[in-house]
Amino acid sequence: MTATRRLDVALRAAAERLDAAGVTPARGDAERLAAHVLGASTGEVAAAAITGRVLAAADAERLDALVDQRAARVPLQHLTGRAPFRTIDLDVGPGVFVPRPETEVVTELAVRLCAGLADPLVVDLCTGSGAIALSIAVEVPGARVVALELDPAAHAWARRNVEQLAPRLAPRTLDLRAGDVAGADGGVLADLAGAVDVVVANPPYIPSWAVPLDPEVAEHDPRIALYGGGDDGLTVPAAVVRAAAGLLRPGGVLVMEHGDLQGAAVRALARAVDGWAGVVTEPDLTGRDRALVARRAERAPR
Ligand SMILES: C[S@@+](CC[C@H](N)C(=O)[O-])C[C@H]1O[C@@H](n2cnc3c(N)ncnc32)[C@H](O)[C@@H]1O
Repeated sequence: MTATRRLDVALRAAAERLDAAGVTPARGDAERLAAHVLGASTGEVAAAAITGRVLAAADAERLDALVDQRAARVPLQHLTGRAPFRTIDLDVGPGVFVPRPETEVVTELAVRLCAGLADPLVVDLCTGSGAIALSIAVEVPGARVVALELDPAAHAWARRNVEQLAPRLAPRTLDLRAGDVAGADGGVLADLAGAVDVVVANPPYIPSWAVPLDPEVAEHDPRIALYGGGDDGLTVPAAVVRAAAGLLRPGGVLVMEHGDLQGAAVRALARAVDGWAGVVTEPDLTGRDRALVARRAERAPR
């Protein structure tokens, strides 16, 4: 039976344990796990540690168990069940990709494109937890967002997030559909063909040979969310570009995340599809190539 323990002592021990297991940031994760156990914010945990709070035995035991799992490199977000993303908190766990900070930047590009439009129609292809689609639905007044996901497990997480965020959404703002992005413009999304203002996507794009080093990714993110198909990882991204070309209205824009070494290859695959007026690569916050931004040509003057 675990005894009561001072919170500051427990946090220091947890951080040392996580650091030794290669977890970064070790102290930050220790505080987030303690916050989860105590039902508090990390700010409250930091303050409680300074003021000498003592953990009840049951809480100390629960924290130890979570630190054990985190040291075994189970993702922090699977342990807390939550992933913060822009202004929302998503429910996540086994079976769905944990949304990443770089995707927040890609989402920002899409939000800005929507800013000048009245009631924009947006499609999020490969929605996973619904991170991008739900952020846009929450942040862009009047937006109608359609989200597509192929994997039934991920689709179930997206459904759960649509439901838990419903109080922050206007009625009928988010339309979640199941299906393959390949041919979606002529299939499950055919009703939207030629009408969409912004298509946004964070598809799987890792090449088949490039196994991620972090156990959190390699062992816990679903393979279908990681590997884009083929030696270049670009089979699904190419399908996104083709579907976007069919979905976007004249002048509509595709924003698609990709790997930092794929900028030129992704621009080339976009240019292989007719009808784009501009194809550029946008960087992430570290200055690395991160997203394709491609605008459909306006209709040719008669
Ligand atoms: C990298 S994850 C991104 C999830 C989410 N958009 C995000 O940014 O956190 C890619 C998602 O695409 C889905 N996916 C993979 N292949 C697909 C396909 N052919 N059609 C639709 N979705 C697909 C995966 O199941 C996964 O949920």
